[in-house]
Amino acid sequence: MKVGILGSGDVARSLAKGFVGRGDNVRLGTRDPSSASLVSWAKEIGPNVSLGSLADAAEFGELAVVATRGSAVPEVLRLAGPKNLVGKVVIDVTNPLVFRENAPPSLSVGHDDSAGEQVQRALPGAHVVKAFNTVGNSLFVHPKLPGGPPDMFICGNDAQAKATVTKVLKDFGWPTVDIGGIEGSRLLEPMCILWVLSAMSLGSWEIAFKILRPAAKA
Ligand SMILES: NC(=O)c1ccc[n+]([C@@H]2O[C@H](COP(=O)([O-])OP(=O)(O)OC[C@H]3O[C@@H](n4cnc5c(N)ncnc54)[C@H](OP(=O)(O)O)[C@@H]3O)[C@@H](O)[C@H]2O)c1
Repeated sequence: MKVGILGSGDVARSLAKGFVGRGDNVRLGTRDPSSASLVSWAKEIGPNVSLGSLADAAEFGELAVVATRGSAVPEVLRLAGPKNLVGKVVIDVTNPLVFRENAPPSLSVGHDDSAGEQVQRALPGAHVVKAFNTVGNSLFVHPKLPGGPPDMFICGNDAQAKATVTKVLKDFGWPTVDIGGIEGSRLLEPMCILWVLSAMSLGSWEIAFKILRPAAKA
């Protein structure tokens, strides 16, 4: 599958590696595709990763990922071109974080709206699925934790799009918990702050959430 990732930071790079490991072709979209550090990173990953503008990546992907700083998302989607994403599954990994000195981050939107819903409104022709936002990028692909694989919470309005993302997650080693429509982002985005505070309290960033449940009936 061709995957267009909007972003070039740690999240974009971790997911790109995961998709390439799955046999996909990835194009990373950034404002500066000629950046020396990005070019050298892409060389290291191999021929199945290419770099381009945000519009190039959006057009390239059969599936797209929004993986940029929360505050930059409206501008990034404008540069990517909503028309390039019509009919496509778009995974929204972002958290609408506001960073403060000497304090944990807070959210710029919440309770009665969310970044996930804002992305869906900005891309009315796309099928947005919130995923990967409740865990650090070092665990995105084949998370290895002593308690077994954690759970990935997802939400979105389109059942087929969520099935596509569930398959990606399965290939990345994640069981999925589908909490419903894209408005579930109102719950998943604050979980990022819960994750940060838990990591600080426990002294490790290698942590993730899991729902404990009875074994599935045969
Ligand atoms: N870090 C994690 O482990 C983690 C885990 C789950 C979710 N998230 C969420 O995933 C997203 C990406 O996180 P990250 O840690 O990879 O990186 P980040 O530092 O939050 O974002 C880096 C990306 O944002 C873009 N960006 C920054 N300012 C911009 C602006 N003014 N206009 C356009 N683009 C701009 C950069 O674009 P250029 O390439 O053009 O410079 C770069 O691609 C965030 O929303 C974060 O909250 C992070």
